[in-house]
Amino acid sequence: MPRTKFVCGNWKMHKTVAEAVQLVKELAAGLGDVAGKVQVAVAPPFTAVHAAAQAAAGSAIEVAGQDVHWEAQGAFTGEVSAAMLAEAGCRHGIVGHSERRQLFGETDEAVRKKVGALLAAGLAPIVCVGETLAEREAGRTLEVVDRQVRQGLAGLDAGALGRVTVAYEPVWAIGTGKTATSAQAQEVHAAIRKILREMGGSVADAIRIQYGGSVKPENAQELMSQPDVDGALVGGASLKAKDFLAIVKGALR
Ligand code: PGA
Repeated sequence: MPRTKFVCGNWKMHKTVAEAVQLVKELAAGLGDVAGKVQVAVAPPFTAVHAAAQAAAGSAIEVAGQDVHWEAQGAFTGEVSAAMLAEAGCRHGIVGHSERRQLFGETDEAVRKKVGALLAAGLAPIVCVGETLAEREAGRTLEVVDRQVRQGLAGLDAGALGRVTVAYEPVWAIGTGKTATSAQAQEVHAAIRKILREMGGSVADAIRIQYGGSVKPENAQELMSQPDVDGALVGGASLKAKDFLAIVKGALR
């Protein structure tokens, strides 16, 4: 069974409610016959999640949270639970993004707990991993990614693992305009799939591994044509309907 490609736009701290609704409508209108052939999601800021999900209703566009807290509720000022995301219309939750790891101290242990919370609420985790430039230059890429995958997904059985998407996002490629070559991406994606196979057996063949880091209309098709690159997590280029739709269409070719 070939894996259905999965492209998710990570809007980061962009888009008001009105802007989010507008962009979702443009995306829904522009999907055309790609709808249903590529899985498509967008991750608005929390404030716009509900409105974006309502605007996406009836279309093939799904909504993701950009982060989640692992507890169900409580005195955690500023945080949002998985059940809250689900009720607001999310199907997915992004965890372990390098900006969360680097700027907000998110650890592999936090990622593991967040993955558990998402799964318990019926949401599909998108788990980001990736090395920094210093780590790549020191030849430590596969070691870093191995640790992030094994610790972030620790304790999941094959059934739970099968609901996860992994996003390989080399930190040096995020928002920098520098993209990994398709060969660099494929090398790491294949290594990740091997780890997933060690962890969960044959379910690894069904798990989508997205590439992220300066994905653009010009490079998306080449990246996603690699055998283990099953889609993309797109930041900057997901903020404009035309660019994001071109990337989604690139997944089909
Ligand atoms: P970028 O971001 O496409 O702007 O590089 C990707 C991401 O951070 O998910």
